[in-house]
Amino acid sequence: MLVYVSLLVCVLIMSGESCIDKERQALLDFKEDIQDPQNMLQEWGGSLEENKDCCKWVGVSCNNHTGRVIGLDLSTSSGLAGNISPSLPLLNQLRYLNLYGIDFLSNTIPTFLGSLTKLQSLVMSEANLTRPIPSQLGNLSSLVHLDLTGNHLVGSIPFSLGELRSLTYLDLSFNQLGGVIPESFGNHSSLIQMYLSGNILNGSMPDFVGCLNLTELHLNDNNLHGGLPNFTKCSSLSVLYLFNNSLNGSIPDFTDCLSQMTLYLANNQLSGNIPNTMGQLPNLVNVDVSHNSLDGNLSDFTGCQSQQHLSLSSNRLSGNSPNSSGQVSNLQHIDFSYNSLHGSIPDFTGCPSLTWLDLSSNRLSGNLPNSTGFLEICLSCVILIGDRLSLTSPTIHFQAACLIVSKTRYLFLNYQITIVWQNSFFFGFIV
Ligand SMILES: *[C@@H]1O[C@H](CO)[C@@H](O)[C@H](O)[C@H]1NC(C)=O
Ligand SMILES: *[C@@H]1O[C@H](CO)[C@@H](O)[C@H](O)[C@H]1NC(C)=O
Ligand SMILES: *[C@@H]1O[C@H](CO)[C@@H](O)[C@H](O)[C@H]1NC(C)=O
Ligand SMILES: *[C@@H]1O[C@H](CO)[C@@H](O)[C@H](O)[C@H]1NC(C)=O
Ligand SMILES: *[C@@H]1O[C@H](CO)[C@@H](O)[C@H](O)[C@H]1NC(C)=O
Ligand SMILES: *[C@@H]1O[C@H](CO)[C@@H](O)[C@H](O)[C@H]1NC(C)=O
Ligand SMILES: *[C@@H]1O[C@H](CO)[C@@H](O)[C@H](O)[C@H]1NC(C)=O
Ligand SMILES: *[C@@H]1O[C@H](CO)[C@@H](O)[C@H](O)[C@H]1NC(C)=O
Ligand SMILES: *[C@@H]1O[C@H](CO)[C@@H](O)[C@H](O)[C@H]1NC(C)=O
Ligand SMILES: *[C@@H]1O[C@H](CO)[C@@H](O)[C@H](O)[C@H]1NC(C)=O
Ligand SMILES: *[C@@H]1O[C@H](CO)[C@@H](O)[C@H](O)[C@H]1NC(C)=O
Ligand SMILES: *[C@@H]1O[C@H](CO)[C@@H](O)[C@H](O)[C@H]1NC(C)=O
Repeated sequence: MLVYVSLLVCVLIMSGESCIDKERQALLDFKEDIQDPQNMLQEWGGSLEENKDCCKWVGVSCNNHTGRVIGLDLSTSSGLAGNISPSLPLLNQLRYLNLYGIDFLSNTIPTFLGSLTKLQSLVMSEANLTRPIPSQLGNLSSLVHLDLTGNHLVGSIPFSLGELRSLTYLDLSFNQLGGVIPESFGNHSSLIQMYLSGNILNGSMPDFVGCLNLTELHLNDNNLHGGLPNFTKCSSLSVLYLFNNSLNGSIPDFTDCLSQMTLYLANNQLSGNIPNTMGQLPNLVNVDVSHNSLDGNLSDFTGCQSQQHLSLSSNRLSGNSPNSSGQVSNLQHIDFSYNSLHGSIPDFTGCPSLTWLDLSSNRLSGNLPNSTGFLEICLSCVILIGDRLSLTSPTIHFQAACLIVSKTRYLFLNYQITIVWQNSFFFGFIV
């Protein structure tokens, strides 16, 4: 008898508990409020015996031992539209809720979602939401992942979201959220990825003093003002997108950032010098500070260590163009165009990976460096030197496939070539 009972219990556990009536009904209520022209949720509440167990319905997942609904994922069911039934909170063990792409006709995130306190992941991206984010979402104290990207949400970001201490992933990008970024986010030690791009956020950036675990911060394409914070404790930061804002002041020192880093600060109103340390940071991989008002002297900048992409274009930088002075470098893309650099064309022979070099619209003069070096490294690269350059050497010989472009003339050179420069026209000869 005992053996028989244990066997029965064992079989029950193996086959999983079926769902409880109250939750089955809550799901049927949910379905009731959703239009489903493509019959994606057909089996929900179907008359067949095998459709009785809501744990087996498409998009529903249950705890195998208790039979309670813990997940609802309708992201792969297309064509759904409607409203969220007020019965949903009856699924009070729900951990994962993914309603991506449903066309919510009320355009609203219901406040009652704030009572799903077990929720760890909430996804309502591209769901036609046009109203403010309810502050009640700040009651979701277990929330780890919140994704509301690609709606038309308005109003400001609730302060309470910055107090969700388990949150590691926040994506509110591409909405119409305004106002300031709540200070609470600057001191948020669990956040790893934060995406607020493409809104109309204004005010200044919080001081990111407590974001020890932040690896990606995207605040580009907003209306942020004021200076850049110091990011002094952000040793995990590896992607910082702040382009297309109205940030001013100088570029802070990123020496505390220990990870391989991409830093895009283009299209702001930053001024002052580029910190000399920036060129030496071993982990700074991609840097774009173009379209600012930086007015420093580049002569001492040794920005050619481990970067792959360096754009300083469209600033007011002066001094001599920096060179690689023999350093081994991974630089592939250099853009110093639209500045006030003078002196001779720099030597980038220490950058063997170079594929793009734009020095146009500066005040450089003199010769192209000799074939032994500068042009030898250029195996298939684009060099833009600009019209202002006065080339005095009559003949340059190099072995490379290079596109040399000036504003009005270009040549595509595929072979060993001799260039003869005469009265600022150049001719190529295949040898
Ligand atoms: C429940 O069982 C299914 C298959 O029987 C399994 O894939 C899933 O991982 C189990 N879930 C839990 C929480 O044990
Ligand atoms: C969003 O709602 C508008 C009207 O409220 C509707 O015209 C549009 O098709 C909806 N978009 C999507 C992607 O469902
Ligand atoms: C939920 O949030 C609201 C507003 O933030 C608050 O007034 C309410 O007390 C919270 N409810 C619970 C159960 O925490
Ligand atoms: C900042 O955004 C809020 C909300 O969108 C708006 O009311 C306010 O006027 C904006 N302030 C500025 C200076 O743009
Ligand atoms: C950051 O949070 C910690 C505790 O979470 C608190 O002690 C500290 O005062 C906060 N700092 C700021 C600047 O808000
Ligand atoms: C930050 O990350 C570390 C390492 O992954 C982890 O141990 C720690 O708990 C995280 N901090 C918070 C507040 O989540
Ligand atoms: C950043 O640090 C520098 C010196 O380390 C200081 O002068 C500056 O005021 C700080 N900026 C902010 C926004 O805290
Ligand atoms: C910035 O905004 C402009 C205009 O909205 C857009 O064309 C551009 O691609 C954006 N990005 C950068 C890096 O400038
Ligand atoms: C930055 O802009 C603010 C206004 O948004 C201004 O008050 C401040 O003086 C500016 N700072 C610098 C260094 O230009
Ligand atoms: C730039 O710095 C170099 C060396 O530090 C100096 O010789 C030069 O005069 C400076 N140029 C300008 C325009 O300040
Ligand atoms: C490279 O730059 C350094 C420092 O500005 C300078 O001393 C050196 O002469 C330059 N080398 C070449 C080949 O231009
Ligand atoms: C360039 O090379 C030629 C021959 O190899 C040499 O005569 C000339 O002095 C070199 N010019 C420069 C500026 O190094």
